[in-house]
Formats: sequence, C-alpha cells, structure tokens
Amino acid sequence: MTRAKLDREALIEAAAAARELAYAPYSGYEVGAALLAASGRVYVGCNVENAAYPLSMCAERAAVFSAVSDGQRGFEAVAVVTQNGGAPCGSCRQVLLEFGAGTLVLIADVEGGYRETTVGELLPDSFSAADLE
Ligand code: THU
Repeated sequence: MTRAKLDREALIEAAAAARELAYAPYSGYEVGAALLAASGRVYVGCNVENAAYPLSMCAERAAVFSAVSDGQRGFEAVAVVTQNGGAPCGSCRQVLLEFGAGTLVLIADVEGGYRETTVGELLPDSFSAADLE
C-alpha cells in the first residue's frame, strides 16, 4: 500500500474506537492505537492499567503484540489517539522499531487533529537487531 492510498482518517478512527475501551482507572489517561499491517489488516490496542502500576501496558505495544501473535511482521502505519495528542512513549517506540523504522506514525487527539512522523524519526540513533549481528 502506498502512503498516498493509506486512509489516515480511517486508521485514526479505529484508534479512537480502541481508546474507548482503555482501562485506565489510575492515570485517567486513555490511549488507543491502530496498527495497519502490510497484509492490510488492522490491529488495535488500548492501555490496560493494573493496581500494581508497573504491570500496566501501553496501547501501542498491545496492538503490536496482537498483530505479531497473528503472524504479522511488517507494518505500514500506526495511529495513536489520546485526549491531547501525546506522543508514543520510549518503550513503544523501541517495540515499533523492531519491525521497521519506516512505519508511519499518526499522533492524533480526540478532536481528530493529528501530526505525522515515522518510528525512525521518533527514535533516532537507536539500538536494533543490526547491533547484534
Ligand atoms: N500510555 C500508552 O498507552 N501509550 C504511550 O505511548 C504512553 C502512555 C499509557 C500508559 C498509562 O496507562 C497511561 O498512558 C499514562 O501513562
């Protein structure tokens, strides 16, 4: 799929719908993610918090783990929706990087406004599989 053909608004809408399912009783900060695989399939995730705080999981990583568990290894784009357009955390950047620095990242807020970047831009000078060769 070319970038031009990518339906950015549909991916953001899928992330917004996933955000509605967020379980964030402790922070109150709800996050939804929608990951478009090279296969064309979309995998969603939301943040899932826990009373033992460090066990909480981010929306982006939930989406990646769901996709990889379904046999996907290549990703075109990921949309992330938060109330205020917050960017993916460092851990999620690293996990996304594992599957490609070129993945497009759409960082959106609940009003539908968004900005566009890539995983590589969000995590420059990174540690990756190449360092282990
Ligand atoms: N969170 C995400 O889901 N993704 C991020 O990239 C940043 C943070 C979640 C984790 C926690 O449930 C809440 O947002 C506040 O940190």
